[in-house]
Amino acid sequence: MRQKIVAGNWKMNKNLEEAKELIKGIKKEVKNGLAEDTRVIIAPSFVNLNYATKKTKKSAVEVAAQNMHQATGGAFTGEVSADMLKKIGVDIVILGHSERREYFGETDELLAEKVNTAVANNLEVIFCFGELLEDRKSGNHFAVVESQVKKALFHLKNEDFKNIVLAYEPVWAIGTGETATPEQAQEMHAFVRELFVNVYGNETANAISILYGGSVKPANAEEIFSKPDVDGGLIGGAALKTEDFVAIIKSI
Ligand code: PGA
Repeated sequence: MRQKIVAGNWKMNKNLEEAKELIKGIKKEVKNGLAEDTRVIIAPSFVNLNYATKKTKKSAVEVAAQNMHQATGGAFTGEVSADMLKKIGVDIVILGHSERREYFGETDELLAEKVNTAVANNLEVIFCFGELLEDRKSGNHFAVVESQVKKALFHLKNEDFKNIVLAYEPVWAIGTGETATPEQAQEMHAFVRELFVNVYGNETANAISILYGGSVKPANAEEIFSKPDVDGGLIGGAALKTEDFVAIIKSI
């Protein structure tokens, strides 16, 4: 069975005090564990990762980083390496988020390097991709997504995908309150899964979790998650409030 995942991307929100509160609230809700093949992941900022991994060690909550540098180490002021993450107990990293692409100039080629570094360091990757509004309006959304996925991931070996989760995040739906319809999400997820069928075969394609991200909230989560190729969500704004995030977890 494919894993179902609810992941909270905290972005540049929550100082230590606020992170403590939120982690406490989420832990309380999942204290009796999660259903089989269901995962809950939170991605606080770098400075709060150490605290988060310590606090969630004995719980069902897992911790991800929001980014990582592609080099193993060296003179890269302000950056964080895969090894640094691993050593504090972070085993998951989000790569390719549209905000990293747009504001920090991350290209498909750079993301392929980051993916390689993560895979080499045994870090699981939540790989984000998605089209801009103009791509969708011009009917280019499938081509854009295909190119993003292929350029960053399709040099990998079949077995590497055990450590990759996909997250389709149409840029026009992120933080805008505008969600893709469940049908639009399903359509794109099925398209992406088919890309994997063609190159990596059915087994890999059917095992890979594809999350939807973009204005998921308690009111729409259940319907989106009910679609056959939607295996969960990457949640931004609604991951910052315990009650909203918990309600979304309950929808999975
Ligand atoms: P949002 O963000 O839920 O606030 O739209 C999603 C994301 O950027 O991962």
